[in-house]
Amino acid sequence: MGSKNKLKRFNENDTFDNVIQPTREEVVNGFQWKGKWNSFFKNDNPIILELGCGKGEYTIALAKKNPNINYIGVDIKGARFWRGAKTAIEDNMNNVAFVRTQIELIDLIFAENEVSEIWITFPDPQIKYKRTKHRLTNHDFLKKYNHILNEEGVVNLKTDSEFMHGYTLGLLHGEGHEVIYANHDVYKNQGAPEEVINTQTFYEQQYLEIGKAITYIKFKIRF
Ligand SMILES: C[S@@+](CC[C@H](N)C(=O)[O-])C[C@H]1O[C@@H](n2cnc3c(N)ncnc32)[C@H](O)[C@@H]1O
Repeated sequence: MGSKNKLKRFNENDTFDNVIQPTREEVVNGFQWKGKWNSFFKNDNPIILELGCGKGEYTIALAKKNPNINYIGVDIKGARFWRGAKTAIEDNMNNVAFVRTQIELIDLIFAENEVSEIWITFPDPQIKYKRTKHRLTNHDFLKKYNHILNEEGVVNLKTDSEFMHGYTLGLLHGEGHEVIYANHDVYKNQGAPEEVINTQTFYEQQYLEIGKAITYIKFKIRF
């Protein structure tokens, strides 16, 4: 994407009611919607997150299917989720928002128990050892997710990365979390939930074109 196009999207994001782009200071010093997301949406419906949402395909697809659930896409790249935000506005969807922030700050964006479910869609696997701290299913991230998720809250991980799939399964077993469902090739092995095989993200489409297997884990964090 050219820099002009990016700038146009950044500027347009500023005008969207469904996009929130807090500064780091605003988040660290007490984020205005933390614990108050139901006032943002003006209802008491559950809240589901898509972390590293990119263009927000899951946020949009699930929000269309479940109008009585609120969906929030989180990504640091605003020019990407501009697509999802624009679609939500064009289609008059009131149950969608996008937040531009670091996922590392997620426990400052949402209060304890405020979230019902998390989707992590095609995260960067961060294979190098030195990048472990950026891997979205590492111990520290699980701690943060556990804090914001309610009692029944679950996490969904969809990835093309065998490494990420194996790493996450290993960590879940090692730390005693509950693996509810795992599938190492969702389009070949039967049994994957409908929402896993019915939506393909931007990155996923590219992985499918080169014949990569798409994997999925649904789990519950138990600390
Ligand atoms: C490989 S892309 C996947 C995007 C989308 N889910 C898809 O499947 O098309 C990973 C996304 O995660 C975002 N991301 C990675 N680490 C992040 C972090 N720590 N905080 C916020 N966003 C992050 C990137 O900006 C990027 O959009």
